[in-house]
Amino acid sequence: MSLFRERLEKCARKNESRVVLALDLSLPVGEKDFKKKLLKKARWVLSEVSEHVVGVKVNFQLLLPLGLFDGLQSLIRDASGYGLPLIADFKLNDVEHTNEWASRHFFDAGFDAVIANPFVGWKGGLETVFGMAKKSGKGVILLVYMSHPGANEGYGQRVVSEDGTISFQYEVFAERAKSWGADGVVVGATQPKMVERVYRIVGGKIPIFSPGIGVQGGAVSEAFKAGTTYAIVGRSIYESEDPRKAAADIKEEINEIIK
Ligand code: XMP
Repeated sequence: MSLFRERLEKCARKNESRVVLALDLSLPVGEKDFKKKLLKKARWVLSEVSEHVVGVKVNFQLLLPLGLFDGLQSLIRDASGYGLPLIADFKLNDVEHTNEWASRHFFDAGFDAVIANPFVGWKGGLETVFGMAKKSGKGVILLVYMSHPGANEGYGQRVVSEDGTISFQYEVFAERAKSWGADGVVVGATQPKMVERVYRIVGGKIPIFSPGIGVQGGAVSEAFKAGTTYAIVGRSIYESEDPRKAAADIKEEINEIIK
């Protein structure tokens, strides 16, 4: 098991939480001092919820205005101080040298795991990213079935393998997550049937991360009953008037289901 997964599990036990915070705050670009205000708000939200979450996921909303080795560094230090693993959600989706370059930057900057798209394949796609992650105790999480309605157009397609077997794309990706040694798979909470099917394939050996709770319509109860390991939650927490309470409430709701 990677160091990333060990840290995540340790944090899940310590904070009794299965909630990964998606810290996707944004402010209008033209606003005066928007970068300072954005960083201040992000650090405040994180400090409020730090005891109720198991990790933090960062997306373009913070990376682009704040910069990886610039403003984001104080947030990365905060997360590390709270003992929270950090996930870089930039859905790596390119050829090898670009995926490798990006991952190296995320890992060097202090991220513990990256999310990648298995559509790009192994050879010349994700092989070196997995190799680099393994060497440094970092994690690679694969998209297996996304949470938005159009996900069925890609992840839900039927595909024919070389031996003529017909299966769904997400089934192939769940199998690849096993054979490639992924540290997690992403399956939308909006698709509890998919969570269940992927759970059957990965056999509880690979954690299932489910975004789509709340604003996107996914329900905690259905997702966790189907096999979700960690909920990824953004707007329902950081747009709430009381992010600490919102995170604590979702944590408790999950704990009621999994106890
Ligand atoms: P909300 O505000 O909807 O935020 O709770 C969800 C977060 O998760 C990201 N997201 C996904 N990430 N696969 C992913 O890897 C998905 O299917 C997916 N759906 C949503 C979204 O960008 C936000 O950070």
